[in-house]
Amino acid sequence: TKTNPVNKNQSKPVVISTWIHGMEANKTAWERLKVGDNALNAVEAGVRVTESDPKNRSVGIGGNPDAAGEVTLDACIMNHKSECGAVAYLKNIENPISVARKVMEETPHVLLVGQGALSFAIEQGFEKKDLLTEEAKADWIKWKESENQKKPEINHENHDTISMLAIDKEGNLSGACTTSGWAYKLPGRVGDSPIIGSGLFVDNEVGAACATGIGEAVIRISGSSTIVELMRQGKSPQEACKEAVNRILKKHKDHEGLQVGFLAINKKGEVGAYSSYYGFNYAY
Ligand code: GLY
Repeated sequence: TKTNPVNKNQSKPVVISTWIHGMEANKTAWERLKVGDNALNAVEAGVRVTESDPKNRSVGIGGNPDAAGEVTLDACIMNHKSECGAVAYLKNIENPISVARKVMEETPHVLLVGQGALSFAIEQGFEKKDLLTEEAKADWIKWKESENQKKPEINHENHDTISMLAIDKEGNLSGACTTSGWAYKLPGRVGDSPIIGSGLFVDNEVGAACATGIGEAVIRISGSSTIVELMRQGKSPQEACKEAVNRILKKHKDHEGLQVGFLAINKKGEVGAYSSYYGFNYAY
């Protein structure tokens, strides 16, 4: 639809994030925003809540492992100055979003992966931890013994990435995106979440967008930067998210299990969301 009910009487600051698990994360982000802290600090603090929740099976500690039983995490962060940082295939670190922020602030690079990302995190003082919980391990063993074991498991509802966007009282935008990725993925697989422009994009002149769902599909249309460009051309956040989803659907013959969801926010603080399947929700 063209209008989104949450945009009525909207005022800044605003924080939105993917899925119902975003509500707890938003509360922490809001604690920062309401006292005038900036959007970057808010989104980092917010998604750390979800990363540190061992009951959440798609982000941070407790996330579902890859096919080999290893938890490998992807994350990125971007601020209103278009500065950004990311990590991919990072093991043994509970809060990859904070490592991504260190990549942004302490290195000339944007993306560190694998062993290099882990060594950098340890140098920066992050603690090494076992991220595979007993529950996640038990489910992985069940999956390995099942007939489906050749197929990674698709998440439709209440799963996947937390992506968060915020606009602070100064009107500056930031975003964060973090995930353990597609459950039982092939070892080495990286999705959209650490890819600036796919899982997350911020342009402080226009707005910001972020993604959840099957990362391969999001990457194919460079999802989040596409939405920001659509908003630049005059689309509302809602219209832009819808067009990105439709573009993905057009480019895939088989829509079975193709869950993708986008969130967007513009400079006025208006928000929008759209997904390919029913069941996608977001926290405002
Ligand atoms: N959107 C998360 C992933 O595909 O890894």
